[in-house]
Amino acid sequence: MAGALFRTKSIDRLLMDAQAGEVGPHAADVVATSTGEHTLRRTLGPLSLVSLGIGGIIGAGIFVRTAAAIAERSGPSVTLAFVVAGIGCAFAGLCYAEFASMIPIAGSAYTYSYATMGEFVAWIIGWDLVLEYAIGAATVAIAWSEYANRVLGYVGMDIPYQWRHSPFETLNGVHGVMNIPAVFILLLLSALLIRGTRESALVNNLIVITKLSIVVMVIVLGWSFINPANHTPFIPAATTYTTAEGVTHAYGGVMGILGAAGVVFFAFIGFDAVSTAAQETKNPKRDMPIGILGSLVVCTVLYVLFSYVLSGMAPVQFFRTEGSEASVAAAITDYMLGYEWLSRLVTVAILAGFSSVILVMLLGQSRVFYAMSHDGLVPKMFSDVHPKYRTPWKSNMVFFVFTGLFAAFIPGDIVGEMTSIGTLFAFILVCIGVWIIRRRRPDVPRGFVVPALPVVSTLGVIVCGAMIYGLGWTNWLRLAAWLVIGLVFYFGYARTHSRLAREAQFTS
Ligand code: ALA
Repeated sequence: MAGALFRTKSIDRLLMDAQAGEVGPHAADVVATSTGEHTLRRTLGPLSLVSLGIGGIIGAGIFVRTAAAIAERSGPSVTLAFVVAGIGCAFAGLCYAEFASMIPIAGSAYTYSYATMGEFVAWIIGWDLVLEYAIGAATVAIAWSEYANRVLGYVGMDIPYQWRHSPFETLNGVHGVMNIPAVFILLLLSALLIRGTRESALVNNLIVITKLSIVVMVIVLGWSFINPANHTPFIPAATTYTTAEGVTHAYGGVMGILGAAGVVFFAFIGFDAVSTAAQETKNPKRDMPIGILGSLVVCTVLYVLFSYVLSGMAPVQFFRTEGSEASVAAAITDYMLGYEWLSRLVTVAILAGFSSVILVMLLGQSRVFYAMSHDGLVPKMFSDVHPKYRTPWKSNMVFFVFTGLFAAFIPGDIVGEMTSIGTLFAFILVCIGVWIIRRRRPDVPRGFVVPALPVVSTLGVIVCGAMIYGLGWTNWLRLAAWLVIGLVFYFGYARTHSRLAREAQFTS
């Protein structure tokens, strides 16, 4: 029985499934350059990989969560928090790259762990990835709603507060009811996914250029609006802060920085997309680390500068009050006089930027559940493909309802932190997994090999673990509750429906 929990899907079997085209309906279009055949063409060079990474990375994390981290966790030392989060991602990213280059399947941490740590851990990761992808999509949808309302304001319209906030939020005596714009964008993008819409390489590149330009513009033009008083003290004295939802966090000091790192870690999620393109990379050994580390370095440098400017432009109190929503645009309007055009440009441009991030996350979610359904761990409906569009439409619909419920009724702070903690947990398991597989199967060829293992994976576990620690007990409880629900599903369904279990029964 205990053995069954640790049954692994052999790497040879995984590669065979991939050959048979059983890796997912989207497998052939991980990027728009694919040929549509089972064997993907190796067309991606280092620059395209960096662009792929940046396309999935820059989003709500920098444009919404940064202000929340300043307000609730760390004040201006959010800048240091970005350094910590970037370092944690670099260690985990290297581990992802080795897995991706040896099991080059459009799966993810779920597939890697099925081959290394067994079915039970794979289940936990697959279940946990719902936090990264589905809850992450809900978080970006809530951020989209904030900026969408700002755009409506430009044409004299306004969605009443109660229809763009969750029931847990209140302003001047008005209680939120549900966040309708967030549900709207999820509905629209889920419908596009069902129709089989993918972002083309061209659209991705355009969005990447737009996102990079607005980040650089805010840094360059905002630099002269930094008020040194807002940066003093740079690391606030350790105390606590109670959010509008009544949750108390450590604020300031080292714990403030670690907590903020956990919050802004959200801004880095998505670089793992680069690792899934291993099979289409011309020279994975050289290009994967360049793609993963390159996009991380570019984003970390930009994030550090951006957060330095943003936290210097306005006082912490601003981000706790008027600047708590659509914070970047709000700060430009209030503190960069004469730059209203920049505020408007940022607002409109990031609506497109957020949409592409949501699309990537919803797609990632349906891919993971497709793979799990194929392995029998979740019901078959998650791999049922639409007769015409060839997409897992039932899965897309279920996840629209699921993400929609979170986006409608839960505040952005809570879903954002759940996404961070869930992804950090998955990263830790990937760091451990890469080490296990190196010892167990040194013979399997790898396109890319993590240098200095186990030092790199141990450091990955430590830095990601420190961020989990910094996120505080409310988030630990939420993660634990989610994992307990997962256990119920595993023992109630997945363990007995697993394809490997059924095959084992059949052959014994
Ligand atoms: N990194 C992505 C974002 O910040 C998820 O929106």
